[in-house]
Parts: sequence; C-alpha cells; structure tokens
Amino acid sequence: MVLAYVGVRFFARTATKLRAPSAPGCHGSQRNLSSLPSHYALPSGDKIPAVALGVWQAGKGEVGAALKTALDTGYRHIDGAWIYGNEAEVGEAIKASGVPREELWLTSKLWNTFHAPEDVESALDDTLSKLDTEYLDLYLMHWPIAFKKGTTELDETLTANPYPTWQKLEEMVEKGKVRNIGISNFNIPRVQNLTANALKVQPAVNQVELNFWNPQPELLAWSKAHGLLLEAYSPLGSSKQVKETLDLPVVQTIAKQLGITPAQAIISWHVQRGTIVLPKSVTPSRVQENFHVQALPDDLFEELEKAATSHSPQRVVNPSKNWKLSFDVFDDYPQ
Ligand SMILES: NC(=O)c1ccc[n+]([C@@H]2O[C@H](COP(=O)([O-])OP(=O)(O)OC[C@H]3O[C@@H](n4cnc5c(N)ncnc54)[C@H](OP(=O)(O)O)[C@@H]3O)[C@@H](O)[C@H]2O)c1
Repeated sequence: MVLAYVGVRFFARTATKLRAPSAPGCHGSQRNLSSLPSHYALPSGDKIPAVALGVWQAGKGEVGAALKTALDTGYRHIDGAWIYGNEAEVGEAIKASGVPREELWLTSKLWNTFHAPEDVESALDDTLSKLDTEYLDLYLMHWPIAFKKGTTELDETLTANPYPTWQKLEEMVEKGKVRNIGISNFNIPRVQNLTANALKVQPAVNQVELNFWNPQPELLAWSKAHGLLLEAYSPLGSSKQVKETLDLPVVQTIAKQLGITPAQAIISWHVQRGTIVLPKSVTPSRVQENFHVQALPDDLFEELEKAATSHSPQRVVNPSKNWKLSFDVFDDYPQ
C-alpha cells in the first residue's frame, strides 16, 4: 500500500464561525484552528466528498425524501449498499433531483453472497440498474466474509483468500463500471492478507465503524501510515447509541462553546481525524444539520479525542453471532 491521500479544498467558512481564543473552557492553551478538507484525493486521483448521507435503515418511502433534502442541502456523496434494499428509491430520487450524475459520488457494496468471481459482475449490474446509472464512483467489498452461493453459510476458502473476488472487482474498474474499489470491515491483518497479493488496483478506502464508543485509534494511525483512507460508519453511534453519544457531557460542552449542535461537534471531529464521515438520517432537519462541519479548535478536538480513546472500546455493529461464525469477524484472523 503506497499512495498517500491528501485533503483538498478547504472550508474557508469554518474559521469565521469559531469563537475567540478566550472562550470558556480554553484553559489558557493555544486555540489553534485547523481547516477541514471538503474532499479527499484517492489513489485514482478522484476526489471523494468528506461528508456523505448514509442510507442504511432508511426505509422504503422515506429514503427518497431524505435524498431530496440532502441534495437540496448540498450533499453530493451517498453511501448505500445492495443489502440495504433501497437502491431503486435512491436512484429515483437522484433522477428526480436533476443533479447531474457527474456531480455525484455514489458508493455501493458487494454483498457476502456474491463473492464468487462469477457472481460479482451480475451483483454489480443489479446495483447499477437499480440506481439507474452507468457506473459507481466506489464499490466496496461489504464484509471480509464470503457466504456460499444463495446461503448465509461461510465460504471458508473465499473468506480466507479474498483475492479472487478482488481480481473481479479490478476487472470492473477496467470495464469502466466502477471508478474506485475498496473494502469495508477489514481489520489490519485482513487488509494485509489482501494487499500481500500483486494488486492492480489498491483499495481506495476501508469503511469501518468509528464513533465515540469505538474510535479505533490504532487502526486510524496504521491506515494513515499506509495511505489507506478510512470512512467512518455509524459515526454517531448508530440508532442504538446516538442518544448516549449526543448526551455526553464532553460533547454537550464543546457544542455549547462553539455554538454548534452535539451532532455537528461529533461529525466535525470525524473529519478532523482525517476520515470520511457517513451520518445517516431520514429527518429533514437532521439531514441539514449533519452537513455543516467545522474545524474544532485544537484543544477541544484533543479533549474529545482523549475522552473517546480513554474508555474500553465498545463496538456497536458486529454480525458475527447472527451469522453463526465460529470466530469474531474483527478478531486478528487470518494471521
Ligand atoms: N459498511 C458497513 O458495514 C456499515 C455498517 C453500518 C453503517 N454503514 C454506513 O454508515 C451509515 C451511518 O451509520 P448508522 O446508520 O449505523 O449510524 P449513525 O449515522 O451513527 O446514526 C444514525 C441514527 O442517528 C440518528 N440521527 C442522525 N442525525 C441525528 C442528529 N443530528 N440528531 C439526533 N439524531 C440523529 C438517526 O435518526 P433518524 O434517521 O431518525 O433521523 C439514526 O437513528 C449507514 O447509513 C451506512 O451508509 C456501513
């Protein structure tokens, strides 16, 4: 893994929104302001928007309206997946919006049932047809877990070695059906297991759970050192933990000091950590709220980072038991 990613185009508006260095809670430390990237450059040279609308658990009949609000607000990055079951409604909402396709960044994900190389292209074609588009900007291997065809039973061979699936994804890039390919839910050994092969196309991103409860500082540091951009899923703690996240005293205090909402403080923290962030909402006011990120002064960023990384990590999303795996998908396997 070689290519470094860089943040490009900075939010000029961020600095002006922030309060003076003497704001309460500053404790006399230097209140430096970083700027947040609006996009990140990928190994392909494409620029991916830093904030996306996530559409997992955005139900039928509500996801289209959420898309409309998002596109009107200025979102241009949609994070979806075949398994979310709402790609057709997402596609209709995009068409109805009139936003030109080339202005959008569409991500989808290959489901576990379709890892057999001969199944990859038809799975992708189904997604393309539902989204009513000729190409995806980013296609991810949703999990480092392959199921045997038509089942939810583990395919041990393709799970232990995802390279044949990856080679088919590389072919999809060559055919122009996808612009970038990446991975999701891969821990460090699994990334190394894949990238030990002579890849024609490096993974553009690794989409993983990152939130206050599971901030994964080691994975973040390792990924930065290896030029692999992370995308933060369940950034607010998902529906299970969002209330607890937004009620945290540290988050409330930072939000009050900066005159922003707790969700904006958390979403901004993610971008400031150098990750893409994928908040999901189907509530119009929240969709709008979540788009407005701004740099946290360094002392407040560090305070939030310290609070997030000084408790035992607690994962919000882990399907290992539901899938009846004999191991935890996030354990250090394979070595
Ligand atoms: N690759 C993977 O395996 C994977 C796994 C999980 C998620 N993801 C991606 O990451 C996206 C986000 O993850 P997520 O949906 O688990 O969690 P999330 O974005 O952390 O949280 C979503 C929850 O927060 C609520 N919410 C959103 N904004 C809010 C705000 N400003 N104030 C109060 N509540 C707010 C939403 O409610 P309402 O919708 O009712 O407003 C919803 O209940 C997904 O949609 C998906 O695209 C990927």
